Amino acid sequence: MLSRTSLGVIAAAFFGAVLIGAPAIAADEAPAASAHEAPIPPRNDWSFAGFFGKYDQEQLQRGFQVFREVCSNCHSAKHLAFRNLADPGGPQFSEAQVKALAAQYKIKDGPNDAGDMFERPGRPSDYWPWNFANDNAARTANGGGLPPDMSVLAKARGVKRGFPWFIFEALPGVAYQEQGADYIVALMNGYRDNAPAGEKLDGAQNWNDYFPSHKILMPKPLSDGQITYADGAPQTAKQYSQDVAAFLMWMAEPKLDQRKKTGFRVLFVLFILTGLLYATKKRLWSNVAH
Ligand code: HEC
Repeated sequence: MLSRTSLGVIAAAFFGAVLIGAPAIAADEAPAASAHEAPIPPRNDWSFAGFFGKYDQEQLQRGFQVFREVCSNCHSAKHLAFRNLADPGGPQFSEAQVKALAAQYKIKDGPNDAGDMFERPGRPSDYWPWNFANDNAARTANGGGLPPDMSVLAKARGVKRGFPWFIFEALPGVAYQEQGADYIVALMNGYRDNAPAGEKLDGAQNWNDYFPSHKILMPKPLSDGQITYADGAPQTAKQYSQDVAAFLMWMAEPKLDQRKKTGFRVLFVLFILTGLLYATKKRLWSNVAH
């Protein structure tokens, strides 16, 4: 049987680890040793990481600019409606800005009374249009590679870790959940001009240290000075990649900060409940001889 003290120690250790320890421990993991395995992407300093993290509106606006000017030439974002760009907690452009932005895009609509499809200027309620008519058209334009839809890409590319990290990572509001964003930054900056000795690139392939198979059909999308920022942020590939990764994270998980707050409340209530139950148990058994 576990004594009262050891139970207390276990509970304290659990909550201690949950509240402070888990992200810190996971950070110490060494990158993969083998040259052919993709290394674990280095961590970035995200405003939305951690217990009280939230998105940085200016960064999301810059990230949107990168997405719009560069990534969306190839990638779709089927679940992003123009009006989402005005949502609280996101890039939060004004309604007027969103309306003007949407109107710059042509949206296929119809059929009209004559049975024909037609194009009209976009409205805030429209979804982000894709440059390609379908997947095959996108593949043909990209050397056979299909640019994945960006709606949930930042969440779909998390780095998988074994036991016991996945337990911590499953806890709401506590875990480090930014691996997907770290991966995107690493991928953007992981290109090499030439494949390492002994490796051969075919056709449209490029060498990328962080892409799982290394041979990626996406050409290096970001270089220093490529995009002009209006807010004075550094115009470097590194900055662009962090901004667009933050934007993609928001797109995949717009309610991240609310979810973290809920997680915190749940843990808090559980903590109080534990104390109450313990007090009740002591009280109930206090008159029983043992
Ligand atoms: C010229 C077209 C093009 C542009 C521009 C482009 N991509 Fe891609 N992207 C692709 C293609 C094609 C793939 C699929 C690569 C493959 O399967 O080899 C891809 C794949 C990806 C992946 C998935 C990698 C994986 O692990 O499967 C990410 C993430 C990504 N792109 C991010 C971006 C970001 C961020 C931008 C903008 C800064 C961007 N891309 C701009 C064509 C493009």
